[in-house]
Amino acid sequence: MNSKKIREKFLEFFEERGHKIVSSSSLVPKDDPSVLLTTAGMQQFKPYFTGDKDPMKDFGSWRTVSIQKSFRTSDIDEVGDESHLTFFEMLGHFSFGAYFKKETIEWTFELLTKIFRIDKERISASVFEGDQKIPKDQESYDAWLRFLPAEKIKQGNREDGNIWGPAGPEGPCGACNEVYVDGLEVATLVFMEYFYSKDNTFAPLKQKGVDVGWGFERLTKVIQSAPTVFETDLFEPIIQLIPHRDIENETKAVRIIADHIRAATFLIADGVLPSNIAQGYILRRILRRAIRYGRILNLDKNFFIPLSQKVIEMYKEFYPELSLKKDDILRVIEKEEEKFSKTLKQGLKEFEKMMEAKTDKIIYGEQSRTISGIDAFYLYESYGFPIELTRELAKENGFSVDESGWETALKKHQEISRAGAEKKFGGHGISTVQDKGTAEKMTRLHTATHLLHQAIHDVLGGESEVKQMGSDITPERTRFDFTFPRKLTPEEINKIENIVNDKIKLNLPVIKQKMTKEIALKLQARAFFKEKYPDEVNVYSVGDPDLSKAYSKEFCDGPHVKNTGEIGRFKIIKEESSSAGVRRIRAIVE
Ligand code: ALA
Repeated sequence: MNSKKIREKFLEFFEERGHKIVSSSSLVPKDDPSVLLTTAGMQQFKPYFTGDKDPMKDFGSWRTVSIQKSFRTSDIDEVGDESHLTFFEMLGHFSFGAYFKKETIEWTFELLTKIFRIDKERISASVFEGDQKIPKDQESYDAWLRFLPAEKIKQGNREDGNIWGPAGPEGPCGACNEVYVDGLEVATLVFMEYFYSKDNTFAPLKQKGVDVGWGFERLTKVIQSAPTVFETDLFEPIIQLIPHRDIENETKAVRIIADHIRAATFLIADGVLPSNIAQGYILRRILRRAIRYGRILNLDKNFFIPLSQKVIEMYKEFYPELSLKKDDILRVIEKEEEKFSKTLKQGLKEFEKMMEAKTDKIIYGEQSRTISGIDAFYLYESYGFPIELTRELAKENGFSVDESGWETALKKHQEISRAGAEKKFGGHGISTVQDKGTAEKMTRLHTATHLLHQAIHDVLGGESEVKQMGSDITPERTRFDFTFPRKLTPEEINKIENIVNDKIKLNLPVIKQKMTKEIALKLQARAFFKEKYPDEVNVYSVGDPDLSKAYSKEFCDGPHVKNTGEIGRFKIIKEESSSAGVRRIRAIVE
């Protein structure tokens, strides 16, 4: 059975049992700042498990089924074995108070044996054995006993993975069953019964829920009797494009490249761009890691492009965003590949030199087998080596990285660049010698920039994720960079400009408030993702001190005007591309 059929059969099976098909949400969770990337099918359904949202109202059903794009960095070191991946798809079905253990287990067994024709002998399961906080899951055990002999039903504890969740620091969770075929875990059946809070307590949920996730690639491997996920039709066409010999280190390199390029393609399609922070860092890290493994195979420069094109071709039918973003995806990948290929070779040379120096010292009696923080930082700063890459290289050579030394070096660097940035932007009127008029003009531009930021979200945010990438204010103008995949139309520019001028005309109050970072994030104040904020922050809001009612709210240390009326007339003078997927607006106030 090919993978396309497996998708169809899965959705059909649960649709016939009253489930509403819901499309995959983005890999970058929209309303959940607690996690960087979507790691499971349940993520978009969290508020339905907690009762905060009504599934009847949104889906017309208490049951949903989906195929969710997911990403787990936790498995990155295992990629290349039989079954681990970074990006994967999760086949999931969910109940928000509709059915519970008996039906779920019955359907799991039926799906595996009747629809996918897996021999019963190959199947086993595990259930939660109970502890002080959550009781033994006898109901699941009894339900499985109808299908499997007792010796095929293992009882496991928390460490075995028989409690699942929450996804993020708090949220719904519960006891779970794991389902195996030939000893490989293919599905997790989570019975959501508790809300786990950060203070380590479990409160019962208002309603019991079911969250089932099947690893699509693993299930396909089992159904197609492939030795690993990389020999299924979800990977074969990509692997075939990478020249390699059938020897251990080359096979591993090919698998890592195939996984990472597939993951990168999907991340970029969801608006992630390579950077040194958050999701952008994850993207950069996997791309650079893949480039490094490409060197093991002596691959040509730009080997990523045909691979990414293949991923797009294979998946566009199910994920139309891949076609829509094709140009962006290829451009971003090409740029990052070019950028890193240039420095990788030199960086590896430097690394080897470090190794040689250290090995000499070891020969002469020094014991240390660590790479110093300063050396790790040097590789990061001068050659773009993500710290994980240095760690990996070190490990391959029997070394480790001095982690606290690395932390110190990085912190010092961040402090220096922050001090530099403050001098350049925020500190205007404070440390630089400027006349009063200039300082006032910059303050007006600063508040205008906040309004501009929000207006850009208002006008463009519905189409694509808009994220601030930088800003710069001089006495003449403000410059604002943000992610957006295409040129803005003259109408959009007009609209943005008009919104800002309307807010100026309303003479709205501009209010500064101190609060904890946590609260500010909860109230959805805009933070600049490249910045590391202290636990207590200042938030500037425009229009209302109640942040839920304010027009604009941002983490910021000011200074700002008192009322928007002081800004004067706002005018956009230029809109252009700043780098791949990033637009730049220049504006003035008169
Ligand atoms: N949420 C469960 C998992 O991710 C199904 O394994």
